[in-house]
Amino acid sequence: MEFSEKYGPWALVTGASAGLGAAFAESLAKRGMHLLLTARRENRLDDITNRLTSQYGIDVVSIPLDLCAPAAVEALANKAAKYEIGLVIANAGFGWAGPFLQQDPERLKEMVKLNCEVPALMARTFLPELENQGRGGFMIIASTAGHVATPWMAAYGATKAFDLHLGEALAIELKGKGIDVLAVCPGSTKSEFHELANIKAPVFRGIHATAESLAEGAINSLGRKPSWIHGFANRFSLLITKYLPRKLATWITGKALSKHYRS
Ligand SMILES: NC(=O)c1ccc[n+]([C@@H]2O[C@H](COP(=O)([O-])OP(=O)(O)OC[C@H]3O[C@@H](n4cnc5c(N)ncnc54)[C@H](OP(=O)(O)O)[C@@H]3O)[C@@H](O)[C@H]2O)c1
Repeated sequence: MEFSEKYGPWALVTGASAGLGAAFAESLAKRGMHLLLTARRENRLDDITNRLTSQYGIDVVSIPLDLCAPAAVEALANKAAKYEIGLVIANAGFGWAGPFLQQDPERLKEMVKLNCEVPALMARTFLPELENQGRGGFMIIASTAGHVATPWMAAYGATKAFDLHLGEALAIELKGKGIDVLAVCPGSTKSEFHELANIKAPVFRGIHATAESLAEGAINSLGRKPSWIHGFANRFSLLITKYLPRKLATWITGKALSKHYRS
């Protein structure tokens, strides 16, 4: 079955104004999918919408929205209701690196909301319609940081563990209903993430992937597994941590991350 037959005709991508979300939009456009793109920066969304529409001959609708605003997921669902959505990518998110006790409490609340509450509510809101259609896909963007506790990115790593577990669990619950769920685990990937997350660039020199290769790899993994880690180096290092006592794996991760935030 063609990708757009199984997951089309429309896909909804959050956080589509930059980084991974913009790359997902382009990869899906190449596959002939029509797109609903959302983020806060309207100008960015309009630029991407115009480019993808003229380059790929698809329909693109931009929905400028702050997903941390009250009832934002309901507002998004209302705007998306008239489109036949077969694929949802819950991608919008941000991180923060530094000593937990120095994290701004308001930003912390926003991060937990955007990284955890929003994707969970999106799953609860959009999956019933996919279940009715008997087909479709749902991707949640977790992180390699969700596989092991991350001192100096303590709360961010915990939000990504939530995403990873949510995605893997839903993949099992929806297996047999024609719906593929994938928790995507990028490692360090070029985007605006690091600047916003107080991380020194470049992080993990040499394994800084492109958003385009991440998006292609994730889309190709949909329907094949419940979660996917991008890149051999990431898969290998996470495999090693699985064989270590949790405390030691956390200590090593903390050692690596302690040098990567701006003080
Ligand atoms: N880059 C990495 O190294 C990396 C690694 C692992 C996991 N991830 C995950 O990948 C996902 C995408 O991150 P990225 O690297 O592409 O970061 P990015 O370049 O900073 O993009 C983040 C996107 O989220 C949107 N966004 C942020 N706050 C929002 C809000 N309140 N409401 C609606 N949209 C909002 C941003 O758009 P506006 O500012 O226009 O709203 C932007 O489109 C995140 O979940 C992140 O945790 C990234």
